[in-house]
Amino acid sequence: MTQRKRALITGITGQDGSYLSEFLLEQGYEVHGLIRRTSTFNTDRIDHIYVDPHNPQARLFLHYGDLTDGTTLRRILEEVKPVEIYNLGAQSHVRVSFDSPEYTVDSVGMGTLRLLEAIRDYQQRTGIEVRFYQAGSSEMFGKVQEVPQTETTPFYPRSPYACAKVYAHWQTVNYRESYNLFACNGILFNHESPRRGETFVTRKITRAIARIVAGTQKKIYLGNLDSKRDWGYAKDYVRAMWLMLQQEQPDDYVIATGETHAITEFLDLAFTHVNLDWHDYVEFDERYLRPAEVDLLIGDPAKAKKQLGWEPSVTFEELVHLMVDADLQALGLASPNGDGSTSLDNAYIRHNVGSMVD
Ligand code: NAP
Ligand code: GDD
Repeated sequence: MTQRKRALITGITGQDGSYLSEFLLEQGYEVHGLIRRTSTFNTDRIDHIYVDPHNPQARLFLHYGDLTDGTTLRRILEEVKPVEIYNLGAQSHVRVSFDSPEYTVDSVGMGTLRLLEAIRDYQQRTGIEVRFYQAGSSEMFGKVQEVPQTETTPFYPRSPYACAKVYAHWQTVNYRESYNLFACNGILFNHESPRRGETFVTRKITRAIARIVAGTQKKIYLGNLDSKRDWGYAKDYVRAMWLMLQQEQPDDYVIATGETHAITEFLDLAFTHVNLDWHDYVEFDERYLRPAEVDLLIGDPAKAKKQLGWEPSVTFEELVHLMVDADLQALGLASPNGDGSTSLDNAYIRHNVGSMVD
């Protein structure tokens, strides 16, 4: 019997980590994930796919570790012997990165370097090729130098988070060129889902709508509504990560929808979906402003389409609606189409009713 391909995912408990795990399990992989030791459970997003490791059917295994702890990364690499590594772990909130710049840069920038070093050493000693995916971000374009943004658009980062991602990006290129590592940068534009962290703007809105409909929340407080983002569906984006590591040569790719929308458009679609007018519910709160803002992001996914055959499968309107429906469903409320089952994430939602926090 041929051995299953083994993948290691940092950030497996996050939005993308959970979708990528499901995707790789479907592809027949054995999946290993790095999880942080926390005082409360942090595996909500993957509980539905976790099987006790003693069960012979188990193909998902979790290991305690942290991107700020290089020794553990090396040990896990030795134990797991993965052939693909997806580096998704990060303090990923842009606003928070202004409050915690050192930690953000340590986990996002230095964390990537620690992992690359561990891989270089492991590959040199064992001769086993490890393919590496780095979770790069459209935030690296920041104050955009070109519209739309492509793989060759110069970076102009506008936050500690984005600066750290630029560092991680160039280290990934550098390890590819210096040590012949199969290392790819995905430059992913915003991607959302019902599993999106509750403090990112899309999910904050859809979750608030469900509570407003349920009568447990009256207002939603937001910051800058003028910025524009290229929003796609997270499930589509994890497929792109995998495709990058299946190519003959390592390369860097922009993953985006090619459309941009203002936050007010998201509000319009989301509130109208439940027959409400967002102007009656949204209040401004300066706490959500950032010291420097990224005003406009719009990516050109032409290279990914041509070389990876990748295209987004969910439109902006569908994305907004599926997120609103999922949050309504999580509170036991029927979605507007009446059948209460529009969500693509039913298993996850069942696991999370009542466990969401501000
Ligand atoms: P997310 O939901 O915030 O998940 C982040 C993951 O990183 C969580 O599993 C978190 O663990 C883990 N993590 C945080 N600090 C860590 C550390 N010091 N060591 C190890 N793990 C750590 O993020 P996401 O939306 O899934 O995004 C995945 C990756 O893509 C991130 O690197 C993000 O920066 C990048 N990205 C995201 C987008 C997007 O729109 N979603 C776009 C471009 C790039 P806990 O669960 O314990 O907190
Ligand atoms: N989070 C948040 N909360 N953002 C708000 C709010 C609010 O109350 N009000 C307005 N915004 C605006 C932000 O100022 C920003 O312009 C926009 O909404 C989107 O903010 P986020 O949803 O927090 O996402 P982001 O674009 O800053 O960062 C996300 O996408 C990046 C890719 O471009 C994160 O997932 C990053 O990790 C990712 O790299």
